[in-house]
Amino acid sequence: MKRLGILLSGRGSNFEAIARNCASGKLAAEIAIVIANREDAQGLETARKMGLPVALLPSKGLAREDHDRQVAAALKAAAVDLVVLAGYMRILTAWFIAQFPLRIVNIHPALLPSFPGLDAQHQAWEYGVRYAGCTVHFVDEKMDSGPILAQAVVPVFDSDTAETLSNRILAEEHRIYSEAIALVLNGQFRVEGRRVVRLTGARNGN
Ligand code: GRF
Repeated sequence: MKRLGILLSGRGSNFEAIARNCASGKLAAEIAIVIANREDAQGLETARKMGLPVALLPSKGLAREDHDRQVAAALKAAAVDLVVLAGYMRILTAWFIAQFPLRIVNIHPALLPSFPGLDAQHQAWEYGVRYAGCTVHFVDEKMDSGPILAQAVVPVFDSDTAETLSNRILAEEHRIYSEAIALVLNGQFRVEGRRVVRLTGARNGN
């Protein structure tokens, strides 16, 4: 069974969706460790309640690379096959990324390359786009960059607030993150420049 290492800083709803899919067998993987950089991360509590291995590695006051070295050591000790960022509010160092080549994925609540950075759903709503969505991508040295594994689109309605739009996007996040993880774990793809090309089963990840 392939082993996932989850990094989170907050609510942890994407982590929960992945954990549920692992538990039901929908996603052929197990969660080897859940690492939080904040003690008050709700996802940490959820992981504890689920009986999953957890580690609290506070980042406050630490130099970025010193913290990344602690996190990488914990992930390696847990023998993870894939590092899954699930609302992890840290920019990773190039050193960390080099430890797990094409083995770190992230989810972003916008159709990249539109609206990178914080509060992406609000950015999209305020900009007035008619369609918004989410993106699962490999992580590289830049923020919300890296080859795209999956995207999902949702409509934006006149009656939406940033919050109702966020909820519609979140439902899609919960769906496509596990699908993208399955793709990475089964290895049936190759990366050509920025493009992730599927080798079999010609699905496009939408
Ligand atoms: C999600 O919107 C995700 O796309 C972004 O951070 C948020 C995390 O939410 N990277 P949760 O902690 O998974 O509930």
